[in-house]
Amino acid sequence: LAGAPLQRSTLPLPVPPGVGPAPGEHERLLFRHSMPAPWCDVKDRELKFDIIPNDHPYHNAKNPRTVGRANEKLASAVEEVKKDGRTCLVVGGDHSLAIGSISGHAKTEPVIWFDAHADINTPLTSLSGNMHGQPVAFLLKELKVSGVPGFEWLKPCLSAEDIVYIGLRDVDDAEHSLMEDTFKASKPIHLSFDVDGLDPPLTPATGTPVPGGVTLREGIYVAEQLYKTGLLSAVDTVEINPRLGKTQEEVDSTVNTAVSIILSGFGKAREGSHSCSY
Ligand code: ARG
Ligand code: MN
Ligand code: MN
Ligand code: MN
Repeated sequence: LAGAPLQRSTLPLPVPPGVGPAPGEHERLLFRHSMPAPWCDVKDRELKFDIIPNDHPYHNAKNPRTVGRANEKLASAVEEVKKDGRTCLVVGGDHSLAIGSISGHAKTEPVIWFDAHADINTPLTSLSGNMHGQPVAFLLKELKVSGVPGFEWLKPCLSAEDIVYIGLRDVDDAEHSLMEDTFKASKPIHLSFDVDGLDPPLTPATGTPVPGGVTLREGIYVAEQLYKTGLLSAVDTVEINPRLGKTQEEVDSTVNTAVSIILSGFGKAREGSHSCSY
């Protein structure tokens, strides 16, 4: 993530004699507590995607080959992370990446779609042609989206009843007739978090802001509760676009908000926690 430099704390740690860590441990402890998520063992990786030339639209789906191949790559990366027994955090990128992320996570349900938008347009119903408005349709077995160039690899892995929406407030007419909300909370959960589900002043550096969104308090609550289920198995954070921030403050606010949601989803509790392994 851009922004938020990791700073090493220089404050002395007050420890009464005979209590707390052994001499020499203070440094290590202070350093760990100055990291954003000292309890997490983070393995970072970066994916590079190709722009496919002459990527003509397929009906109303723009750049299908470029988006399709990128998602194919992402799907195998997510699959590897899950095989490694880790929780997978994808930092996007727009919401079309959920096609690869959720496919790679595979057969996992339910999916929590946190968003102002339903993103369930098909290449036939989309008015904008933007792929970020279509990922749910590509993933649903019921909608049978097929024949899209670049997506030959894709096998829809979700049923409508596996999806729960939170934050919806800008749904196209065609999308409205395609939706259903049910919840089965016994299997690993995939949280697909579009920052535009939150209220725009919190995450202004995003492409399709919609007024009247979820507050930071509510967003953090959702993430904390999902962490507490012990079932949160993969998280997408999408539509964070620093180039759309009008000022540095807007960029910082967007990034910092996203970071605080991520940390809550990974076990940071507002009341404090002590889950470090030392
Ligand atoms: N419903 C609109 C569309 O299909 C907006 C989608 C916005 N999606 C997003 N991930 N920002 O284009
Ligand atoms: Mn987008
Ligand atoms: Mn979205
Ligand atoms: Mn959205």
